[in-house]
Amino acid sequence: MPSEATLLALGAVVETRSPLQESSGATARVIVAPGASQAPWRRDPDCTRCPLHRSAYRRCIPTEGPRDPALVVVGEAPGEHEEEQVRPFVGASGQLLVSCFARAGLRRSDVTFTNVVRCRPPVISGRQSAPKPEHWRICIENFVLPDLGSIPKTVPVLLLGGTAIQAIGGRKGVAANLGRSWEVDGRRVWAHSHPVNLLPHNHSRGIGTVETLVDTIRRALGHVVAAPRETATVPDGWVAFDTEIARGWDVWHG
Ligand code: URA
Repeated sequence: MPSEATLLALGAVVETRSPLQESSGATARVIVAPGASQAPWRRDPDCTRCPLHRSAYRRCIPTEGPRDPALVVVGEAPGEHEEEQVRPFVGASGQLLVSCFARAGLRRSDVTFTNVVRCRPPVISGRQSAPKPEHWRICIENFVLPDLGSIPKTVPVLLLGGTAIQAIGGRKGVAANLGRSWEVDGRRVWAHSHPVNLLPHNHSRGIGTVETLVDTIRRALGHVVAAPRETATVPDGWVAFDTEIARGWDVWHG
């Protein structure tokens, strides 16, 4: 473990407060540890730019990963575990994603993770609410786009869930875009449902499956699933993707 002085020199130490410490006024140190060769990603732990900061107890969970990743993943918002650890995608959704990456030949450290909002939205009736456009517009302008801007445009971007598909991809609907790919500002984006909806306890909520997520990751990486187009079938839960894309990327099969 590098000394705190080293981490400070890297700009990697931020300060935050836990709910318990909030009342005592004490400050806890949370270390965001990027790879030693990387500059830290943008973060403002005192951000008050949108109302989400009011319910979050750790603000502004930053992007994590290399500046030259194999893939960028954009999710919706940090959850409980992400807020606790000040790292994106470290809870159940992240674990599912990492197992899908492994099937596509990627390690977690090959991927850069970010979210359209940096603060955990409030839990309402036992469920974390979805961020609203007035939240993500601010976060995107101040954090997401500047972070993406430092990643080469050739790196594919995987948008997970309706909020990321809309906020970054400019399209509406998970079912209508599942497994599809298009260009945004010179970057190729790919869309899939959010892995939280593919977890076993949420099974019935899902559009898409773990298999469709793995296939989307593989196709985003440029892997072509070898199957003659004439015999390709559409597995349950999939929608056929644009012929334009089918032409470019050949076919996948069930
Ligand atoms: N879900 C997300 O969208 N982002 C995370 O960081 C974790 C879970």
